[in-house]
Amino acid sequence: MNTDSFVFSKRSIKSFHTVWRAPSNIALVKYWGKYGIQLPKNPSISLTLSNCATTTEVSFSPNDKKKYPTFEFYFNKRERPDFHPKINQFFEYILPYFPILKDHHLIISSLNSFPHSSGIASSASAMAALALCIVDFEKQFHPELGEQEFFKKASFLARLGSGSAARSIKGPLTIWGKSPAFQNSSDLYAIPFDSSIHSIFMSYCDAILIVDKGKKQVSSSLGHKLMQDHPLAENRFDQANQNCEYLKSVLKRGDIEQFIEITESEALTLHSMMMTSSPRYILLKPNTLNIINKVWEYRFQTKIPISFTLDAGANVHLLYPAKESDKVITFIKSELLDYCQSGQFIQDHVGKGAKKM
Ligand code: PMV
Repeated sequence: MNTDSFVFSKRSIKSFHTVWRAPSNIALVKYWGKYGIQLPKNPSISLTLSNCATTTEVSFSPNDKKKYPTFEFYFNKRERPDFHPKINQFFEYILPYFPILKDHHLIISSLNSFPHSSGIASSASAMAALALCIVDFEKQFHPELGEQEFFKKASFLARLGSGSAARSIKGPLTIWGKSPAFQNSSDLYAIPFDSSIHSIFMSYCDAILIVDKGKKQVSSSLGHKLMQDHPLAENRFDQANQNCEYLKSVLKRGDIEQFIEITESEALTLHSMMMTSSPRYILLKPNTLNIINKVWEYRFQTKIPISFTLDAGANVHLLYPAKESDKVITFIKSELLDYCQSGQFIQDHVGKGAKKM
């Protein structure tokens, strides 16, 4: 894979300030297992969210030539040195593409729209927002950088911060990872899937039920690593490839029944990979299963096409068409909030992607 076109070699120094808002995303076909530096073992498809987002402001100022970029990091207006290792790792990965960072001091300030410690992973939106600020800095030296190239580079950089962050740049749906079903798809960056998606999916809703706000006992990084020697890994990667292909036509046809089949199966397969890893582990909680059973019962009784998906955690994402919103919210409030920690849930829907503020 040739990554030369992503190298920005200009070494002049400049002061610059920018602010970007990047949304979170929820995978429908899951990425689980990686190789090289943050490259996916299988393609994934996600819905870009709208309300759950990170807004990041970066001030670049000239610095004496240093070996590494220097920075300060503020989260929700408080200085947070505990985030430094993650950002340092990101800078280490992107430095070959952005050596100019060494000549600058960065003041990074991030705000999340969703409650911190709600158990919702914020690394996708956070890394995407930071990557966009950095590519915006590059654009100051290369004003000719076209829109498509700009977002491709941002996705490429975001991926180096957190794999799923590659999918938090554009909307309404994105594909990351080489898939024969999607021309121009790549392991290096995500591309938007905007070709003739059925209107029903363009306004799809996601209600995130907060089952557990705590930190996961096993990180996603370790989870990906455990796929390396997983006895079922190759079958799983084949299945994800196939599901990307099926989902493509399901999204075009507006086939909700098959959408439910694929997405629920993907969610449970992700967790079954964890349960059959060595060492094995379980991130689901009893209330995750209580909610799933209630959702199945409700769908069976009402025929309202509500379905669930899961991240690498206990929280449940309920997916449903916008026209069912009122009924679904009533159902959540009356039947599901008892299973949520502090009765907490977040209403979101499909979004258009990141935005310069
Ligand atoms: O982006 P990471 O390395 O945190 O991995 C995220 C993996 C899942 O959220 C479980 C699935 C996905 O495709 O987003």
